[in-house]
Amino acid sequence: MTDTTTGPGAEELRARIAEELERTRARTALLTGVVDDADLTRQHSPLMSPLVWDLAHVGNQEELWLVRDVGGRPAVRRDIDDLYDAFKQPRRDRPSLPLLPPAEARAYVATVRDKVYDLLDRIAFTDRPLVADGFAFGMIVQHEQQHDETMLATHQLRDGPPALAAPPPPEPRTAVGGEVLVPAGEFTMGTDTDPWALDNERPAHRVHLPAYVIDAAPVTNGRYREFIADGGYHDQRWWSAAGWRHRQEEGLDAPLHWRRDGDGWAYRRFGRWSAVRDDEPVVHVCWYEAQAYAAWAGKRLPTEAEWEKAARWDPATGRSRRHPWGDDDPTGEHANLGQRHLWPAPVGAYPAGASPLGVHQLIGDVWEWTSSTFRGYPGFTAFPYREYSEVFFGDEHRVLRGGSFGTDRSACRGTFRNWDYPIRRQIFSGFRCARDARPEEAYR
Ligand code: AVJ
Ligand code: FE
Repeated sequence: MTDTTTGPGAEELRARIAEELERTRARTALLTGVVDDADLTRQHSPLMSPLVWDLAHVGNQEELWLVRDVGGRPAVRRDIDDLYDAFKQPRRDRPSLPLLPPAEARAYVATVRDKVYDLLDRIAFTDRPLVADGFAFGMIVQHEQQHDETMLATHQLRDGPPALAAPPPPEPRTAVGGEVLVPAGEFTMGTDTDPWALDNERPAHRVHLPAYVIDAAPVTNGRYREFIADGGYHDQRWWSAAGWRHRQEEGLDAPLHWRRDGDGWAYRRFGRWSAVRDDEPVVHVCWYEAQAYAAWAGKRLPTEAEWEKAARWDPATGRSRRHPWGDDDPTGEHANLGQRHLWPAPVGAYPAGASPLGVHQLIGDVWEWTSSTFRGYPGFTAFPYREYSEVFFGDEHRVLRGGSFGTDRSACRGTFRNWDYPIRRQIFSGFRCARDARPEEAYR
């Protein structure tokens, strides 16, 4: 490994951090720059913050961790800490807070950023855990990118004329379908070595899984429509007790943002209606819907470990890769990430992103629900704060994997774990199915 405390390693790291910070801020500026001040201040859904809250919150976290903690410098605005503390202010109350107006929020995040660049110029990347390999900077980049994805979901919920535009994702380049057998055996789950991996991805540990079968691609709109047409939303057999109750209370009968259109379906994407395209992964379904579809299809959702083994395990070496295609960062050839396109790509659009076993589109397109509740791995230690992961461990949340078209590459990898309540579907969530291998499949 390169020595990053001093010398050339440190200069490379400094340059890389600066690039990541800049790239990320450009995204934030776009998402908060394409609507007017009234729109930035309004709450578009009780599930979401006003965009101007996300903006200043991103700056406040950057101030807390980089300016004050890493830099040991005086506070810029200690008086606003409580306003932008996600634990002190529930989302539904955020619009009634005395938030910084848009111009002040922009000035605030710019002031913080100037101080961070100044700090970055001088910092020695010592072995202090927060500073080693630039971890705190990586954490702050990922934090801002996660809020950029949240802001994109807010845009998707927003009424009014379209504000965002992007080219459509690529067309299919190969035929992908069916299932992939993953043989029984151990693999390494999680990581000890990825320098910007977050606490919940650590430590690396060996997991044994019996043979199982996983879909080669996420479930598509076309397949999902068959579930709808077969009366799946009205047949209690496919639903868990809690899922059925939720489906009844909310009157769910299709993914969020869908409406009937003649004898077909249309969906609204960032203010524009179009016909549902059958070969795209379904998006905006909750965990309960995913679970019901899987039961209807005679399958189940994969566990988190099954998802990760399918994504990372290389049968040729026995190693777990960082991404399905290898250890390199994603490019536009590998995956639909980074808000480059504003919806999932059709199945077969990313042959270069397939895993060694031939599982496609694990990274990007849609976050994939797994059957797993969110827990710490054996030997987990909260770092650097309990409120990122640990306070969410338990039975309330389900884990999602792989990132969506709205996720930045810095906040997505084979080990990255996302989580949410099983009723949530304003996020860019879809799924794929799995099942136990039958004996004649397992011992071929
Ligand atoms: C990991 C996406 C569930 O948005 O609640 C942002 C990320 N944590 N600020 C969230 C996060 C603190 C988190 N998720
Ligand atoms: Fe946050």
